[in-house]
Amino acid sequence: MRKILIVVLLLIATSVTWAASDAVFSLRGDSPLNADSGDVMDKKWRDGEGTVVRSYPQQPPLVPHSTEDYAITKDSNDCLICHDWQSELPGATKIGVSHFENRDGQALSSISPRRYFCNQCHVPQRDVKPLVLNVN
Ligand code: HEC
Ligand code: HEC
Repeated sequence: MRKILIVVLLLIATSVTWAASDAVFSLRGDSPLNADSGDVMDKKWRDGEGTVVRSYPQQPPLVPHSTEDYAITKDSNDCLICHDWQSELPGATKIGVSHFENRDGQALSSISPRRYFCNQCHVPQRDVKPLVLNVN
């Protein structure tokens, strides 16, 4: 019995030292969680270079401009200021008919709730190097 106890204690002791020596650093650096992590996101947005060619049919097109100043809340959607069919602003591709259909394929007169949160599917691009290299 005593032998088993000693073995268990030894195992616990070694795992504790192993965990302590294997220091973990997150990608945001070692700043505390309740403090700002610095300018990790201060990178150049892809902007003003024209639309991005799609890689496959039915791909949600990538957003070719910054989206930082456009909010989407339950009451308003800034993206629609330019992309809605009613928008008078020239240049912005109007959202496709698929965005006005409910899940049963019925046409709606305004944007379908399924397509309301644009950035669920459409993502902007930044000119960045990958934080972690692709390892296999
Ligand atoms: C001030 C007007 C404006 C607002 C607001 C705006 N966009 Fe755009 N958007 C544009 C213009 C103009 C283009 C075309 C860019 C070009 O041709 O270079 C565009 C292009 C796009 C495209 C690419 C379309 C294609 O055919 O490839 C997507 C996707 C897009 N925007 C999504 C969004 C999303 C999502 C939001 C909100 C987070 C948003 N946009 C807000 C003006 C706007
Ligand atoms: C559930 C995913 C999804 C959401 C949410 C969504 N889209 Fe799309 N979007 C797509 C897909 C997929 C396509 C390409 C096929 C098509 O036109 O339906 C597309 C196409 C587009 C296009 C190009 C249309 C064309 O004729 O070339 C624009 C512009 C666009 N979306 C804007 C928006 C905006 C603005 C919102 C928010 C109001 C939004 N989308 C929400 C998936 C989505």
